[in-house]
Amino acid sequence: MNSIESRINELIEIINKASYEYYVNDNPSITDQEYDDYYNELIKLESKYPELKREDSPTLRVGGDVVEKFSKVTHKSPMLSFDDIFNEDEIVSFDERIRKTCPNASYTLEPKMDGLSGSLVYEKGILVRAATRGDGVIGEDITHNVKTIKSVPLKLTKDIDIEVRGEIYMSKKSFEKCNVERKKKGEPLFANPRNAAAGSVRQLDSSIAAKRNLDFMAYFLPNPDVYNIKTQDESLKFLKELGFVTNYKLNGIAKNVKEIISYIDDLSEKRKDLPFEIDGVVLKVNNLDDEAKLGFTQRVPRWGIAYKFPAIEVLTTLKEIKFTVGRTGKITPNAIFSPVHVAGSVVSKATLHNEDYCIDKDIRVGDVISIRKAGDVIPEVVEVKKERRTGKETPFKMIETCPMCGSKLVKEDANYFCKNLNCPARSIEGLIHFASRDTMNIDGLGDRIIEDFYNMGFIKNIPDIYKLEKHKEDLIELEGFGNKSINNLLDSIQNSKKNSLEKVLFALGIRYVGKKTAKILAKYYKNIDNLIKADEQELTNINDVGSVIAKSIKEYFSNEKNIALINELKALGLNFEYISTSTDSRLDGTTYVLTGTLERYKREELTNILENLGAKVTSSVTKNTTGVIVGDKPGSKYDKALKLGVKIYKEEDIEELIK
Ligand code: IVH
Repeated sequence: MNSIESRINELIEIINKASYEYYVNDNPSITDQEYDDYYNELIKLESKYPELKREDSPTLRVGGDVVEKFSKVTHKSPMLSFDDIFNEDEIVSFDERIRKTCPNASYTLEPKMDGLSGSLVYEKGILVRAATRGDGVIGEDITHNVKTIKSVPLKLTKDIDIEVRGEIYMSKKSFEKCNVERKKKGEPLFANPRNAAAGSVRQLDSSIAAKRNLDFMAYFLPNPDVYNIKTQDESLKFLKELGFVTNYKLNGIAKNVKEIISYIDDLSEKRKDLPFEIDGVVLKVNNLDDEAKLGFTQRVPRWGIAYKFPAIEVLTTLKEIKFTVGRTGKITPNAIFSPVHVAGSVVSKATLHNEDYCIDKDIRVGDVISIRKAGDVIPEVVEVKKERRTGKETPFKMIETCPMCGSKLVKEDANYFCKNLNCPARSIEGLIHFASRDTMNIDGLGDRIIEDFYNMGFIKNIPDIYKLEKHKEDLIELEGFGNKSINNLLDSIQNSKKNSLEKVLFALGIRYVGKKTAKILAKYYKNIDNLIKADEQELTNINDVGSVIAKSIKEYFSNEKNIALINELKALGLNFEYISTSTDSRLDGTTYVLTGTLERYKREELTNILENLGAKVTSSVTKNTTGVIVGDKPGSKYDKALKLGVKIYKEEDIEELIK
């Protein structure tokens, strides 16, 4: 090694050590001036000898890498989040639930950072990839931006392969600074640090993210056992040792509900003085053996929960009640009020659900109303301040005709519907639903663009989305578009054709078929033709599918227009098969039968888990059945299994099968 190379190595070591002391230990070891001197010396050497620039050099943090578009990244294991809870009672129930399985559980308590979660992958200790959570299975590659975050180590203290998850966030100070600069430039302000952080990691040019001064707080290791870690607390310590910033000064441990509540009270007090925004407390079972015993439901881990701080209420004035038409034709009254800041963002509208809700509340245009965010996300009207009325308020009156097409509205139960299938509002809402994230996830085809393309005649119905290519030349000419963005849009349209069945099933907008039901149906029927053939009785036999849903599904597929739509989409190349995301196939080729009442799992849930591992779950016991899982009060299937000598699993033995 020549002397220049060794000086570069030495400088990187000094700078990395200083950063570690500063960011991770909160304890600067050198002055800012010294730091700058070392840093500038390194920049000089690297620009003179570019061939000696190391891939983990701290000078990379100024950014400069520009990507053409965000590539998709499939997470090694799904990036889940916890269920939210909002009060003490729910904490007590959570603790009771945990103690049924793990009587001696204790918890780590961590501030719930208000940013966006990110996954960082290191190979031999070097950061190789960073991704957003996305839909939990597939996220976006944001490596170029994450490399600019000073609290993200580019090189770990150990040369290991590891994935680390944590929160990408913007400190209160950087947020203020960022908005001051945006104001100067006449750019729209970010409503809160979370939006600012999310907007910054979604920049193609990493020098923008670099200037925004983001931060990263590490809080989760997906594979702690690989490093012989036994508790979440040890995971956090290990993360700190590796060079990550953790919340080690604020994190706590609790043995019972009393200690949890006292931690929450304490943190609520400190909240306003913290350098970053938090919106609650995350509780995780500390012992990882306990964590494994508790496992997951279909959606979320059972071993943790997110307690959210109470929403803050603010007062404003109701300016207008605006009626909108949904994709099913349902009419919804919405409160439009003077914009107010609520729990970190600016809001100006909230749903008023239906006529009865408005009459119950006796809400009037001109009223002073209080607003809060339910679960901190969706704004809602809490109360009408009747004592503040002046007499000039206008009472609520339900409309009689569709605000978009003028058709007479029809009342069904509590709601009014526009029954005109060609009503533009219904079509546009249907298209928006089809392209949105939880359905076909077509990037670049948001609400505004759909509305514009609809009005310009490019997209009048769902198949038109897949024929958009033929308008390419016209689209490129549109203001705000260009070759690149149209190509990206066409790419995401093309990609959406490959989605698994549940996505398109939800996207079609069959009444009562939401995300969860679509998934259940897709897993059960495997392809749309099987589902189309299913009769109502068979559908109701599936857990979680009631008679209302079954009837609606049958009705949908009995309509020839809908079948024609599906056939047209098939011809355009859309996939209508179920694609399993599970890569674990250790139960391939096995067949299980469930009988009796299960306590710890819902039937559908356990069926899903087994199927995801490759097993088949059937309803009758034969000599080829691998095992019968027996709950309380089992039926004749249990007797038959005994007779045929098929292996019996009690509920407590299942873990051995699926862990
Ligand atoms: S653990 C399986 N720890 O809040 C969940 N999450 O529902 C693993 N968050 O989406 C996440 N602070 O983005 C964890 N200390 C913390 C957190 C935290 C904030 C976010 C995270 C997740 C949601 C939890």
